[in-house]
Amino acid sequence: MPRPYHLFKYNHREGDDFTIIAHRGASAYYPENTLPSFEGAIAMGADMAEFDVQLSSDKEVVVFHDEKISRCTDGRGKISDYTLAQLKKLDAGSWYNKDFKDTSIPTLAEVLDICKNKIAVNIEIKTEAVSKMFFGGIEEKCLKIVEQSGMNGHVVFSSFDPRAIMHLKQIDTTVTVAVLYEKKHYGSKLPSDIMDSLGADVFNCSRSDFKKKWLINTKLNNIPVNIYTVNDAKNMKRFINMGVSGIFTNNPDILKRVAADVKKKQENEGRKR
Ligand code: G3P
Ligand code: MG
Repeated sequence: MPRPYHLFKYNHREGDDFTIIAHRGASAYYPENTLPSFEGAIAMGADMAEFDVQLSSDKEVVVFHDEKISRCTDGRGKISDYTLAQLKKLDAGSWYNKDFKDTSIPTLAEVLDICKNKIAVNIEIKTEAVSKMFFGGIEEKCLKIVEQSGMNGHVVFSSFDPRAIMHLKQIDTTVTVAVLYEKKHYGSKLPSDIMDSLGADVFNCSRSDFKKKWLINTKLNNIPVNIYTVNDAKNMKRFINMGVSGIFTNNPDILKRVAADVKKKQENEGRKR
């Protein structure tokens, strides 16, 4: 049986079974996937920080979303064409706001260092970084860095690429891994069948791909479900009331408020009955 998703949080409290996941950090307010964005998520009281990982040309694990560096830095070309030292010289903050000039692309180790003891993490392995190798690839590198960080028990992996999920589980059967649903890989298969075929533990899905009828299947099979990316209060409320385990949002402050309101309402209704 998979571990209840809310137990990944630091300082989990009894009855608090919903996870506020800061998507690329508090990325509505800070340049995505940078240390200020993760510090912001911690300050806003998010439970988990989601971020994307890829490899530099010298095979260091860096935190960055796009395959190309032009949207979120002052550079051009692919992330995998540059060494870590070269990537570190790029400005990954000014594209968002001049106040963040010279904010750099962080390594996985640097992000875990600021998250440790404060916020759980969801490490998303980007398809661009996955290879056929299951030893020596990005998956094994990430597992080693997590081990060194001492964050075990507060880390979930995810990927759109089924190979990354299988590699992680082959290297370490105890690691928690989420499937990122994509129609091109899984079509109309039920979540439980997808999970069984990959040996995965958690089902992460976009708000537009998620089918309400899957709720019965995931509940019956005890599969945690997290929905991305929900930034408005109305839809946050809708998904929380469906009973999902967590929501990825660029606005963890809004989700924190909405989750507290829904909980209060549910408690009041419970008392009235
Ligand atoms: O992990 C949820 C979400 O981050 C997946 O999509 O493109 O934002 O990495 P993307
Ligand atoms: Mg992501």
